[in-house]
Amino acid sequence: MKFFIDTANLSEIQEAYDLGILDGVTTNPSLMAKEGITGSDNILKHYKDICNIVDDNVSAEVISVTLDEMLKEGRALAKIDDKIVVKIPMIKDGVKAIKVLSSEGIRTNCTLIFNAGQAILAAKAGASYVSPFMGRLDDIGTEGILLIEQIVHIFDNYGFETEVLAASVRHNIHLIQCAEVGADVVTCPLKVITGLLKHPLTDSGLEQFLADYKKGN
Ligand code: G3P
Repeated sequence: MKFFIDTANLSEIQEAYDLGILDGVTTNPSLMAKEGITGSDNILKHYKDICNIVDDNVSAEVISVTLDEMLKEGRALAKIDDKIVVKIPMIKDGVKAIKVLSSEGIRTNCTLIFNAGQAILAAKAGASYVSPFMGRLDDIGTEGILLIEQIVHIFDNYGFETEVLAASVRHNIHLIQCAEVGADVVTCPLKVITGLLKHPLTDSGLEQFLADYKKGN
């Protein structure tokens, strides 16, 4: 399972990368705004800065909603760096844009997926990734993990090459559930990744080992 970090914060991206387990980064307009990155020039430069940290898979989201504009924007984003994956929303023109961009060899990530039908459409259009938002489904009283499991099952049935990128992953139980059902990728905040390190018995066990070593030396 690939690990992506879901942030536009450069120091958090660097920290996850330094851990040696990071496979990519996802951003969205809300995450860019949270870092105070505004204006198209600054946004493009920020994507380049992210690409300079990680090895591959930097999702950069379009902010237009018509086919022609999405194609123009997607092509410009893809030119920033070979590591860019153009993130396109699940709307009618978005599906058309995925079809065109993927035929041009530009990788795409179809975002804002909330049911299996949307995931099938994006996969048929040639998306490299689909991003079902599990946390936001939990927020409205449904079980997000069931959607991840359903999409993994459907893509396996037909051998779709599109990867299931579980998004809106909020805590480490989410992440472990994604691994259990075979998600190809999870994207989550840094605290979810570093949270995987923690167990009180690890801490107390290490403390004891070090104390016992000191007794004999
Ligand atoms: O990758 C999508 C993600 O940013 C949404 O997460 O926590 O805002 O639902 P959240």
